[in-house]
Amino acid sequence: MTKKQVITIAGGGSTYTPGIIQAVLKDSERLPLEEIRLYDINQERNDDMKLVIDFMLKQEGHDNVKLISTENPAIAFTGCDFVFSQIRVGGMKMREQDEKIALKHGLVGQETCGLGGFAYGLRSMGGLLEVVGYVQQYAPEAWILNYTNPESIISEAVRRQYPGIKMINACDMTISIEDTMAANYGYDHTNWVSSYYGLNHFGWYTEIYDKELKRDIMPELIEKLISQKMDVTDANAGDTSWQEAFGMMSVITKDFPTHIPNNYLEYYLYPDMVVEKADKNYTRANMVMNGREKNTKEMANKIREGKTEDVLNFNFGVHGEYIVDMATSILNDEHRRFMLIVPNQGAIPNLREDAVVEVPAYVGATGVEPISLRNPIPDFHKGLMEAQVAAEKLLVDAYFEGSYQKALQAFTLNQTVPSARVAKIVLDEMIEANKEYWPELS
Ligand code: NAD
Ligand code: G6P
Ligand code: MN
Repeated sequence: MTKKQVITIAGGGSTYTPGIIQAVLKDSERLPLEEIRLYDINQERNDDMKLVIDFMLKQEGHDNVKLISTENPAIAFTGCDFVFSQIRVGGMKMREQDEKIALKHGLVGQETCGLGGFAYGLRSMGGLLEVVGYVQQYAPEAWILNYTNPESIISEAVRRQYPGIKMINACDMTISIEDTMAANYGYDHTNWVSSYYGLNHFGWYTEIYDKELKRDIMPELIEKLISQKMDVTDANAGDTSWQEAFGMMSVITKDFPTHIPNNYLEYYLYPDMVVEKADKNYTRANMVMNGREKNTKEMANKIREGKTEDVLNFNFGVHGEYIVDMATSILNDEHRRFMLIVPNQGAIPNLREDAVVEVPAYVGATGVEPISLRNPIPDFHKGLMEAQVAAEKLLVDAYFEGSYQKALQAFTLNQTVPSARVAKIVLDEMIEANKEYWPELS
């Protein structure tokens, strides 16, 4: 029998925790549970979440599972088997700054893309390296399954400081795109074997083989995308900004119909359109603060007041299931296929070896086995990716070297930025706004 597992959630107070626990409990046969530990630097959020998760455990008949919330890394990590990482250094308030400062200067203002993503990267690297350091100290055998953004930058930074780290970096966007396409166009994505390459939030599908239909259905999906925009179908149903994001997949596919794009490419291919549509005073961070964040707080308050009817009536869908599938695949050596963020090392043969790329990979007891594309990728994608990889690498250099010059080069090279002048203005303003979080740059 599989040993019961201790799972620590770094960023326990995150709005995604209930969805992840929902998925963990659904899969408790493949992932038997001893203990859940919520680790967070914000005690109030973490204690609220403990209340919610405690209620979930009881409701679902798992009251034998131990549950703690703690700010103490020794308690959080000692002897744990898995760390699910989902911290947000600086919180939504700083996400708001990232988005608004960039937009104020006419640039894309986004959580993980453009200069907002770079600002977040310079905050996030320190926080995540700290978490990884604790895991190395207190549970060096544990697997870290990381969702913390911005993923490519985080992955690059962690691998520089801890080569050989037992960490898997994953993004839920490809599974969410597949889930949404299948629901809109009448397929079952659990039959799909997808091939894809790119960087995180920056990639393209090359084939979607349907095992039931026994053919590559990407050509027909491309036609459908071009003729009919998708509706959001998952946990974000009804959310207007996700509706627009999925809609942009049709715009991109119409212009570039050789592949199915990741929706996040809109920020690099059509930054002008994105900025035009944006509300500079009410950005995505505001929507999330007034939506998901508020709802999570309300959930805890309702439980506190005993108004528990319908409180768990949610479905976070693929986000939680994806990370849980990774854990079970390691634990039970299942060799399931995921899209993962890994060092290139030849997976994309004509892209630099040391790029951090997103490609299909199999996951088992020995870790991650990425597959190689074998064929070179086209110049259009390669050119875009090379600039982005270089910009991300310069940003990570800036972090480790405390270099203003490297940060300015990274900001200038970012594909959403038209001029070094505006890159410098935004960088200087972001340095001021991030005093508490960024390393000193000189
Ligand atoms: P959130 O702000 O609601 O939650 C993050 C939690 O992390 C907060 O409770 C905060 O107090 C805590 N935290 C911040 N710094 C910390 C530190 N140094 N140590 C421990 N805890 C810390 O944010 P959210 O919207 O729930 O998102 C959480 C993270 O997951 C973000 O990084 C987000 O970008 C990422 N995310 C990634 C994916 C993906 O596909 N990779 C998908 C969704 C969310
Ligand atoms: C997707 C992406 C994540 C990103 C999230 C933002 O899930 O894969 O990397 O963090 O969207 O969603 P939000 O609702 O916070 O804007
Ligand atoms: Mn992502």
